[in-house]
Amino acid sequence: MEKYFNEHTPVYELERFRSAFEFMRKNASLGSTCMDIGCGAGNVLEYVKNELSLKVSGMDFAENYVAQASKRCGCEILKGSILDTAFIDGIKKEYDFVLMGAILHHLVGGTRARSEELAKSAVRNALKLLKKNGYLVVIENAYSPSFPMAALFYIKRFMSSLSNKRVSFLNGWNNIGAPVVSFYSNDQIKKMIPANIVKDEAVDYPDLSLVWKLAGIKRASWVTFIGQKH
Ligand SMILES: C[S@@+](CC[C@H](N)C(=O)[O-])C[C@H]1O[C@@H](n2cnc3c(N)ncnc32)[C@H](O)[C@@H]1O
Repeated sequence: MEKYFNEHTPVYELERFRSAFEFMRKNASLGSTCMDIGCGAGNVLEYVKNELSLKVSGMDFAENYVAQASKRCGCEILKGSILDTAFIDGIKKEYDFVLMGAILHHLVGGTRARSEELAKSAVRNALKLLKKNGYLVVIENAYSPSFPMAALFYIKRFMSSLSNKRVSFLNGWNNIGAPVVSFYSNDQIKKMIPANIVKDEAVDYPDLSLVWKLAGIKRASWVTFIGQKH
C-alpha cells in the first residue's frame, strides 16, 4: 500500500470535508491545533491553516506525499504509519483536532474482518494524539449494503496478486485492481469509533453511479463522524 501511494499521489477534492470544516470553524479557538492522519498532498491542511486559522501538522506513510504536503503547507509532516503503535507512542504532542480523511478503507489485512480490526486499531492510535476534550473527525465514503464491498475487496485482492496496476472495468468509478480497499457501511464505520465518544455525525449523499447500481449498491454517501475524547 505504501508503494502504491508513493507512485499514485492524486490531490483529492475538498468538498467531502464540508461538514467537518463547518464543525471545526464553530469549535476551534485561537491557537487550536490540528493533526491530519493520512494527509496525502496536504490540501486539507492548507485549507485548515489558511481558512480556519488552525496550527497544522500532518502524517502520512508515503514519502512522496510527505514531501508534497510539507512543501504545500510549510508545516511539520511526520512520516509513519497510523498502525505503528511504537511510532504513535513516540509522538509526544497532543492536538485539539485529529482528522482521518478517507484512510480507514485503505487499512487492509488478509480478510475483511482483519481489515476492520486494523481500522479500529488506527482509531485507537489516533485517539492517543488528542488532547482531553479534543475532537476526532473521521470522514469516509460509505456504501450499503456491505456485501458488494466485501466482494470488491476479494476481487481487488485477487487482481492485485497478479499485478499492482489499476484495472479498468466499464466506465465511471471502475477500478477493480490495486489498491485493495475495504469500504464499509455507515454502521460499520460508526462501530470503529468507541460508542461513548461519538458526538455527532453528518451524511452527504452523492449520486449513485450506474456501475454501483449494477453492483447492488443501494446507497453511497460521504459520512463524517465526530468523536470527543473525555
Ligand atoms: C485516499 S488518500 C486521502 C488523502 C487525504 N486524507 C484526503 O482525504 O484528501 C489516503 C491517504 O492515506 C495515506 N495512508 C494510507 N495508509 C496509511 C497508514 N497506514 N498510515 C499513514 N498514512 C496512510 C495514503 O498515503 C494517502 O495519503
